[in-house]
Amino acid sequence: MAAGTVRSKSSALSFYIHIPYCVKRCGYCDFNTYTPAELKVESSLTEISHNYIDLLVEEISMARAQSDATTVPTIFFGGGTPSLMEPTDLAKVISAISSTFTLDEECEITMEANPDTLTLDRLRGYREAGINRISIGMQSAVPHVLAVLDRTHNPANIEKVVGWAREVGFTEISLDLIYGTPGESMADWEKSIDTALALDITHISAYALIVEDGTKLAAQVRRREITIPDDDETADKYLLADNKFRAAGFDWYEISNWSKPGSSCKHNVAYWKGANWWGAGPGAHSHIDGRRWWNVKHPTAYRERIAQKASPMHEEEFLKSDEIAREEIMLSLRLPGVLALGEFSQEARSALDNFFVQGHFEVGPWEVGRLTLTQSGRLIADRIVRELVV
Ligand SMILES: C[S@@+](CC[C@H](N)C(=O)[O-])C[C@H]1O[C@@H](n2cnc3c(N)ncnc32)[C@H](O)[C@@H]1O
Ligand code: SF4
Repeated sequence: MAAGTVRSKSSALSFYIHIPYCVKRCGYCDFNTYTPAELKVESSLTEISHNYIDLLVEEISMARAQSDATTVPTIFFGGGTPSLMEPTDLAKVISAISSTFTLDEECEITMEANPDTLTLDRLRGYREAGINRISIGMQSAVPHVLAVLDRTHNPANIEKVVGWAREVGFTEISLDLIYGTPGESMADWEKSIDTALALDITHISAYALIVEDGTKLAAQVRRREITIPDDDETADKYLLADNKFRAAGFDWYEISNWSKPGSSCKHNVAYWKGANWWGAGPGAHSHIDGRRWWNVKHPTAYRERIAQKASPMHEEEFLKSDEIAREEIMLSLRLPGVLALGEFSQEARSALDNFFVQGHFEVGPWEVGRLTLTQSGRLIADRIVRELVV
């Protein structure tokens, strides 16, 4: 084992690959992503893609030297906008991982994509590169909602892109939706849901809009140019989505995620269940057995570190066992049937009993000692966690 190797309890290691580039920043988004103008670079996106990928390949070789894991169950290209990268460049990343670790036979390889960036040819290239799951940022089907979100894509493109993805052989296709955008009526949200459900997809993520500090959206809210809907309206939108998704054959497997049977996102489930993963790229977080670290945030700082053959790690922390337990409750409560009643103290048990009596946990799983939130329970999941985690 090489010096500095992280000996992990599990032989499995997932990879998160961060792509920190977008053509334009959406008004609501505070992800660690940059436009070429913000980076003040004049190179084309193709050049940016080529240069950046070499850095990722270098970090993957560092992962190899530092981890004794052997198999890779999932790889997730997230962003930013991974679909700005050339398919051959993403193929290089996959081959860097597969040449030093063993990819599980069923390795799930996801790419997040902005619909503006996809063409039939590009999609074919990604499929040939080995990507087998695609997650498309749809957000809404309604033009005035997309305008408030500051999105540039034409909603009609989503249908086209899903059709192309099927045509080139993608069988796992996910759409991201956002609800609770200022000015979005219940009918608008229903239209977005129905439009998504009419497409040949296997997975949906639906997130309530979060007003993140420092974004253009936050400034608009502060100047009172737009008003965020109240919590009751947002809860009604969650209920509408959950009812419609489930009626269409999508089961919830995390509070904000629904899938057709067998099509949950294995990578995200691994996060939520506390598995080990290596995050490569600027600002990416990693976790191995309670040790967490994150890389320097800016692409330039990241490039400099890698050029010097130095670790891009910015900081690390070691979680104590009580912190691990708390986090486990926070994440696992959001999944059906994962937490066992027997894991809780007497005090927590009485809080759980109260929530059960109020109808916030499903009866069947409860009777066999497992916790599964009901629809009403999912709406107050944060409150339940606060009572359980003191
Ligand atoms: C990296 S983006 C997905 C891919 C691509 N960049 C795109 O936007 O088309 C990840 C997802 O996070 C969600 N998201 C980002 N910021 C959010 C916010 N402030 N509130 C709710 N959802 C948000 C969006 O649904 C977005 O599709
Ligand atoms: S939502 Fe997606 S496309 Fe928009 S800025 Fe964030 S990462 Fe980029």
